Amino acid sequence: MSIEKIRLINFRNYNNLDIGLNDRINVFIGRNAQGKTNLLESIYMCATGRSFRTNRDIETIKLDKEEAYIAAKFYINGIQRSVEIYMGRGKRKRIRVNGVELKNIRELDTGLNVIVFSPDDIGLVKDGPSKRRNFLDMSISQIKPVYRYNLHRYNKVLSQRNNLLKSNRNRTNIPKLLDIFDLQLAETGTEIIIYRIKFLKKLSEISRRIHKDLTSGMEELALEYASNIDNTGEGRADIREKFLMQLKSIREKDLAFGNTSVGPHRDDIIIGIDDVDARTYASQGQQRTIVLSIKLSEVEIIRLDRGNYPVLLLDDVFSELDGERRRYLATSLRDIQTIITSTDTIDLEELNGIDRSVFYIDDGKLLQ
Ligand SMILES: Nc1ncnc2c1ncn2[C@@H]1O[C@H](COP(=O)(O)OP(=O)(O)O)[C@@H](O)[C@H]1O
Ligand SMILES: [Mg+2]
Repeated sequence: MSIEKIRLINFRNYNNLDIGLNDRINVFIGRNAQGKTNLLESIYMCATGRSFRTNRDIETIKLDKEEAYIAAKFYINGIQRSVEIYMGRGKRKRIRVNGVELKNIRELDTGLNVIVFSPDDIGLVKDGPSKRRNFLDMSISQIKPVYRYNLHRYNKVLSQRNNLLKSNRNRTNIPKLLDIFDLQLAETGTEIIIYRIKFLKKLSEISRRIHKDLTSGMEELALEYASNIDNTGEGRADIREKFLMQLKSIREKDLAFGNTSVGPHRDDIIIGIDDVDARTYASQGQQRTIVLSIKLSEVEIIRLDRGNYPVLLLDDVFSELDGERRRYLATSLRDIQTIITSTDTIDLEELNGIDRSVFYIDDGKLLQ
C-alpha cells in the first residue's frame, strides 16, 4: 500500500498543506519544531483514527482554530481509497472512509496500515509496563479492529469496578454488583489476553530472526507475554475461569485498596536477550536494535495479515542508527513506502538506487 496525497487543514502547526508523496522514499527535512512529527502524526491518524502522541484529539487542532481536517488518498493493490477526518472543539470526531461516514469509529478499519518508529519507542525496552501494553494495544488494533472494541469495553468495566470499590455507598449491594463486573471483566479481559498472546507469538518468532540478522548472528531475542492471569491452558474457557477465580480471591484486598489488582491492565512483555532481561541489562545501542527488530517484525506481521506492506514512518531515527543498521534497514524497505524525517540533510548513501523525494519543512509549510 502507498499514500498518494495528504491534505491538512488547521492540523497542529499547519494551516493548509497539500502534498503528493513518492511511492518509495520520502525524506522530510526541517529544524526542530517545524512540523515534521506533526505530519507523521496526521498520517498515523488517517490510518488508525487516533494519534500516537495523545489521547486528546483536541490538542491536534490548530491553537487558534475551531476545526481541523486531515485526509489521505492511498492505493491498495492499485485501487485508490481515501480517509478523511474532521475534528472540532466540543464536537465528536467524524471519519469518512472512501467517502462513507463511519457509524462506529471504534471498529474503524481504513485499510491503511502504518508503522511508526520514533525516538520515544526506545522506551519500549526500558520504560515501565504501560509503555509495552500500549504498544501491544496499538499494534493489535491495527490488524484486528475488533480488539480495539474489546479493549474499550474492558476499560469501561474496569473503571466501573474501580469506582464501585472506592464508593462508600450501601455496602450490602456491593458483592452482587461486583459479581456482575467480575464476569464482564473476565469475559472481555480473556479476549484481550488471547489476542496479545497470539500477537506476541508471531512477533517473537519473526523478531528473533530479524534480530539475529541485525546482530550478525550474535544475539538471541525473545519476547514473551507476562500475564498475571494464569493462562497456561491457553484455552478461552480456561483463562476466563482462572481470571474469575483470581478476581474472587483478591476481592477483599481490592476493596481495601479501591482498585483492581489483577487483569491484562497489569500485564507486561518480557524482553530477553540471550536469556537475560533486556530491561535491566541491554545497553543503549542494544535497545535501539531491539526496537528496530520489533518494528520491522510488525511490518512483516502486517504484510502476512493484510497481504500488503504497511507504510513505514521513521521519525528522526534513521540518522540515529549506525551504518550497519542503516544498511539493513535500507535493504528491508526496498518494497515499502517510507517516510523519513530528519533535522539535517542526512547521509542517504544507503538509500542510493531507491527512488525518493526530498521535502523541506519550515514553520508548517513546505519550502519549494
Ligand atoms: N495544536 C497546535 N496548534 C498550533 N501549533 C501546534 C499545535 N500542536 C503543536 N504545535 C506546534 O508544532 C510544533 C512542533 O511540531 P513537531 O512536528 O513536533 O516538530 P518537529 O519538526 O521537531 O518534529 C511546535 O512549534 C508546537 O508549538
Ligand atoms: Mg519531531
